[in-house]
Amino acid sequence: MARDGAAYVCQGCGSVQTKWAGQCAGCGAWNSLVEEVQSRPPGALAPARGAKGRGLSFEGLEDATPAPPRIATGVEEFDRVCGGGVVPGSAILLGGDPGVGKSTLLLQVVGSAALRGATCAYISGEEAIEQVRSRAQRMGLANAPVKLAAETALRDILEGLKRDRFDLVVIDSIQTMWSDAHEAAPGSVTQVRAAAGELVRLAKKRGVAVILVGHVTKEGTIAGPRVIEHMVDAVLAFEGERGYPFRILRAAKNRFGATDEIGVFEMGDAGLTEVKNPSALFLNTAGERAAGAAVFAGIEGSRPVLVEFQALVAPSAYGTPRRAVVGWDAGRLAMLLAVLEARCGIGFGDRDVYLNVAGGLRVSEPAADLAAAAALVSSAVDQALPQDCVVFGEISLSGEVRPVSRMDARLKEAAKLGFRRALAPSDLDSAAGMAVSGVSRLADAVRRISESDWDGPA
Ligand code: TYD
Ligand code: MG
Repeated sequence: MARDGAAYVCQGCGSVQTKWAGQCAGCGAWNSLVEEVQSRPPGALAPARGAKGRGLSFEGLEDATPAPPRIATGVEEFDRVCGGGVVPGSAILLGGDPGVGKSTLLLQVVGSAALRGATCAYISGEEAIEQVRSRAQRMGLANAPVKLAAETALRDILEGLKRDRFDLVVIDSIQTMWSDAHEAAPGSVTQVRAAAGELVRLAKKRGVAVILVGHVTKEGTIAGPRVIEHMVDAVLAFEGERGYPFRILRAAKNRFGATDEIGVFEMGDAGLTEVKNPSALFLNTAGERAAGAAVFAGIEGSRPVLVEFQALVAPSAYGTPRRAVVGWDAGRLAMLLAVLEARCGIGFGDRDVYLNVAGGLRVSEPAADLAAAAALVSSAVDQALPQDCVVFGEISLSGEVRPVSRMDARLKEAAKLGFRRALAPSDLDSAAGMAVSGVSRLADAVRRISESDWDGPA
């Protein structure tokens, strides 16, 4: 029997259960249910039976008050992902693995915004002031007028933010914040929700933009940022592959802008530097492209990005051949292999297949199908693609190559980086001085690659 007022809350998905179980019925995670005492917000009374609400006063769509201007922080990649600067009074959640660089990014954001005249506070619950200060010095932000505080008690933070007027406040991290109105341990779903709720309320009421840092955790011991995603206006994810200096900022949700923008950064000794031209970064321009490599002309957000797909097809030593994929969807690879086998007669049943997207980028566009297929075929037949060739196109289960969005922009970006030829869907006109080898079926592309039969410039 559960005690009165006790509930078991999954620290992963936040679903509430009346009984403890080894596995969460909501998300299927194991050992993630933790007992939490549910309590009302301080001062809230139990609702009386039959109590009536006060009713609503409706307003029209037309008489909206003009929106205040956005705060341009000056970190352009960050501003763009936010939809053109931070909206005053909005709450933003920045999630990411520990160590990916969230604190570094936000210190840079508040530092830059403060230098441009915004009043900014950086409240750290994880690092001492001295640590934050020395990091800021290393990043060349020693002169930025940012107000620093090391604090975890929510009550003190709220009071402090009410006393001074701020444009932008960073809370690093929401999992370290702790409200004395709740019994649950810091980092639990109850505490994280309560702290986020209070801070979001403060943001709306006083017009302060609040950025909350949330660690993404694999274990169920502290609550993941997912449990507060619905409370905030924008959810940004900061990602990076281990071993690569590149960091990518994505918007997973944004009430004030598009969600498909990305910001690209490079982590160095003096913090993060913005990467204005990601194509040059993800593309390995040194040396010849070998068999198994295909350059995909992709679109990330509003920008074209060129990135290399690398495939290795090798005889399998085991009964069950291996399929490994980095930076692309494993299900999509399985589909491509099936289409190549069924429609083009290239069997992979006794061969290991490895597919890698260079540079640590994750590609999710269907337009990458043809690039992945080209890399696979090129490796399987041991025939390199022309050095100056980019590839894009979606592949259907019937083996057709379908047109994709913004083909002109893709060709233009490729031309800018010195490419002269594209393997692409057939109903595409040449543009930007690029010769297009149009294919309408995957089998045509396979023939072009294996027979090295290309039209256009040599
Ligand atoms: P940090 O911002 O503390 O990560 P998070 O807040 O997401 O946990 O960044 C930690 C990593 O970044 C750490 O491994 C060191 C590296 N780093 C640099 O390489 N250069 C720098 O200038 C800074 C500040 C950090
Ligand atoms: Mg940190």
